[in-house]
Amino acid sequence: MRLRSHDWFLQSGQAGFKARSRMKNQGSPQQMFDGRPVIGICNTWSELTPCNAHLRILAEHVKRGVLEAGGFPLEFPVMSLGETLMRPTTMLYRNLVSMDVEESIRANPLDGVVLLVGCDKTTPAAIMGACSVDIPTIVVTSGPMLNGKFQGRDIGAGTDKWRFTDDWRSGSMSTADYIESETCMSRSDGHCMTMGTASSMACVVEALGLMLPGGGAIPAPDARRRRLCHYSGNRIVKMVAEDLKPSTILSRAAFENAIIVNAAIGGSTNVVLHLLAIAGRIGVELQLEDFDRLGADMPLLVNLKPAGEYLMEEFYYAGGLPVVLQNLKSVIDLDAITVTGASHAANTEGAVCYDDEVITTIDKPFQERAGIAVLRGNLCPDGAVIKPSAATPSLLRHRGRAIVFNSLDDFHQRIDDPALDVDENSVLVLQNVGPKGFPGMPEVGNMSLPRKLLEKGVRDMLRISDGRMSGTAYGAVVLHVAPESAVGGPLALVREGDMIELDAPARRLHLDVPPEEMERRRREWEASTLDDARGYTRIFLDHAQGADRGVDLDILVGASGPGLEYATDAQVKS
Ligand code: FES
Repeated sequence: MRLRSHDWFLQSGQAGFKARSRMKNQGSPQQMFDGRPVIGICNTWSELTPCNAHLRILAEHVKRGVLEAGGFPLEFPVMSLGETLMRPTTMLYRNLVSMDVEESIRANPLDGVVLLVGCDKTTPAAIMGACSVDIPTIVVTSGPMLNGKFQGRDIGAGTDKWRFTDDWRSGSMSTADYIESETCMSRSDGHCMTMGTASSMACVVEALGLMLPGGGAIPAPDARRRRLCHYSGNRIVKMVAEDLKPSTILSRAAFENAIIVNAAIGGSTNVVLHLLAIAGRIGVELQLEDFDRLGADMPLLVNLKPAGEYLMEEFYYAGGLPVVLQNLKSVIDLDAITVTGASHAANTEGAVCYDDEVITTIDKPFQERAGIAVLRGNLCPDGAVIKPSAATPSLLRHRGRAIVFNSLDDFHQRIDDPALDVDENSVLVLQNVGPKGFPGMPEVGNMSLPRKLLEKGVRDMLRISDGRMSGTAYGAVVLHVAPESAVGGPLALVREGDMIELDAPARRLHLDVPPEEMERRRREWEASTLDDARGYTRIFLDHAQGADRGVDLDILVGASGPGLEYATDAQVKS
């Protein structure tokens, strides 16, 4: 079987000499260049990405598996995206990392690739890049952290941070306890152990079929994650022999399974953006409406924060995603093929649930409807999303007076002003935090509530923006409003005091302003430009698509495949 790497390492003459000779400076013996599959280990390790900081250790276990199976493992770095440190937002750079991954794979003598990812954006970014090349690919995530432990109870990353911050701001939690809780929240390797975006994406990747069964939930420090790495190294070598590529695995059925699973696990709204972008790369037609049609009415089968009580450790010990897939067999396509070469049905047969407080069945759900609802209306002609399971039920049908912030700075300056004319029935509106408005679309949609209302005990209000929300967050939060305000979407035309109606069961978001007044405001509206932006931000501003298209760059949609014939010719002549 002719492999890509043969065009480098099996060449005669100067080109082959150059390719092999320089690799030997790392100690690789001659037999590594005998035509065996070359496996890239694409590593998003970085000390600036704490969730991925142990990935070099995991890479060693992948290498063992590759070597054992007769492959030649070569680890390479790509840009990493640390959710907690990067500014303005990691989402700005998701597409940049996807380019790094795509070009690194295509430009090098690789026959298969293992993607080592974990923190929120690293997972979709690497998959998007790999899909645009489409050589055999398997994903290993960094794994969730162990449960946080604080004052005798379990606490979850993100979700409890939001709660503690509200308590601290309202004066019901001391500063000393607040600081102590941050130490207790992150006590091991791994990503957020709530069902935030990282855990949601890990489960979704498993549901897509791109990860070995059960791999999404294994805690990061658990030795079984290292074994998963070893097995993934074994398996990618066989995938090369079978020519089992993402385009074979990522069928329309795979995406539908992923949407349903994300609903059943109470997964993140960010998954909507990432699945749309991945589908665009691999050529599967996926629409915003698919998330509502397939997921909105799905019951909640997993009792994890932020929608429930437990954390990823308990989810793994209860049986993890294989149990969820089996429990969903009446509504998903278990015949979909996976990286094992077998179907989900074969992979998960006999999966046992060890704790029905954590994973339940479809006829005894923790909530009746857990999925993401897609809204339409004159405020969001191209759609918006809300996660009803995370909202106060009484706010899902709500009419209130808009309090409008035209930027994140404006919000920070005024939200705690005692003179702000706001009450618990008001609707907080934040403009200009969409993909182009605040380049990258930050996770600010779950705006913190005015201090004076927190002190009264208010813990939820209707909030609307064109931004995103952390997967660990909760509340009556309408997100991803499209078109965004920065390109002149109706959200830009909302004024203080306008009445806004949300009817989530009817999927309607309405601005109660007459069309002629909207037209007048539109004529007055002026785009705020970022003309001085340069470099990658310039490329992003010129090419980012809307939230309804997954915010991928229009120039990156689709695939160029693995071929580099023109470069091979040039190399031979050199
Ligand atoms: Fe990395 Fe939450 S901060 S997964």
